[in-house]
Amino acid sequence: MVAPLKVGIAGLGTVGAEVVRLIETQARTLSARSGRAVRVVAVTARSKAKKRRIDLRGIDWVESPLALANDPRIDCFVELMGGSGEPALSAIEAALKSGKSVVTANKALIAKHGLRLAKAAEKHGGALNYEAAVGAAIPVIKTLREGLSGTGVNRVYGILNGTCNYILTRMEQEGLSFAECLKDAQRLGYAEANPSFDVDGHDTAQKLAILASLAFGTKVAQSAVYVEGISSIAPEDLRAAEELGYRVKLLGVAVRTSKGIEQRVHPTMVPKSSSIAQVMGVTNAVTIDGEGIPPITLVGPGAGGAATASAVVADIADVARGIRAKPFGRPVDRLRPTKKAPMERHEGGYYIRLMARDLPGTIAKIATRLAKEKISLESVMQRHPDGMEAANKTSPVPVILITYATSEDAVYRALEAVQRDKVISGRPQVIRIEKN
Ligand code: HSE
Repeated sequence: MVAPLKVGIAGLGTVGAEVVRLIETQARTLSARSGRAVRVVAVTARSKAKKRRIDLRGIDWVESPLALANDPRIDCFVELMGGSGEPALSAIEAALKSGKSVVTANKALIAKHGLRLAKAAEKHGGALNYEAAVGAAIPVIKTLREGLSGTGVNRVYGILNGTCNYILTRMEQEGLSFAECLKDAQRLGYAEANPSFDVDGHDTAQKLAILASLAFGTKVAQSAVYVEGISSIAPEDLRAAEELGYRVKLLGVAVRTSKGIEQRVHPTMVPKSSSIAQVMGVTNAVTIDGEGIPPITLVGPGAGGAATASAVVADIADVARGIRAKPFGRPVDRLRPTKKAPMERHEGGYYIRLMARDLPGTIAKIATRLAKEKISLESVMQRHPDGMEAANKTSPVPVILITYATSEDAVYRALEAVQRDKVISGRPQVIRIEKN
């Protein structure tokens, strides 16, 4: 008989409580699949008095995360407190240094301190599993780290933030404002405590940095990620995208280029026919372009207690099975430094929305500036906004341009020249296009 795996859980919020429940209700399946029983023997959380709908009888209450991490009764320390620093960092480090395995759902901590923790795991022989940190229930870490260990990856991209996808979906489908949709996302519990973390793209950036490291064998470097959020997206962009055969999604994209590895998070126009464009609401999706094989797209719930707990328990099952994968797929000292490709040299198609003066020669002037930068246009659309009198020539009208592939600095040089020509008002809206 193999002894049960003894688990200690730090953090009993929505996810922690769900993990305790799942280990209890799935006990037989877990033990059949892992070859040994899994038992929660001790827990810790901020408040012991808080009402939780789980049965903690028979489970010890420990005073602090650090005490739990150092508790000799446990084999596996599960960190579900969150936060990119203390107390999670010291507790995880202590657990690893005492040879325990660690399971965490903490993307911020892995993005920031993942290498240091991975080193400790390697040195002391424990596992450091963090499947729930990216895409919750979607097994994307395992896919990159283990499933594709024999395949080179050229690009990994996806919808990694449920809140942003929920907001963009509702704005598109119901014509609602950004603010209204954000409020609903918060009410439904998708958004982070500080919604700027979601809508300004930082949550996606942390997840992307982790995926890029696994995909390209480079050191996790959140600072190498270019980040733009979705707050500038207007309903007219979503309407124009629809007419032009695109949808707007907040994508995290990591791609190997001749100038290095591009890691970028920004609103992106994706062809309506692509797999990623079909992903609606809070759902997440990740596409991996592997060498010599067609793209793999994984779609599923990227947030919420049950989805996150599903991945956490799967990670615990791996510890029970005795699997000790290298946290970043290869030893930390074999990870290469990240060579950041400069964003100004990014190449791709662009959606540009300008508010142009409705006078003879305006389009000609814009086209001349673009031609000077060798930017070729795939389509041009000018439209009077709904309800505007045709005779009212004083108000600017939206002009929408779709470019063929060009470089980012050429686009911005051309648009600066257009602004100097005084044929447009306000700032141009620019959205990058990602082809599949
Ligand atoms: N706030 C995140 C999201 C939760 O909206 O996807 C999961 O990281």
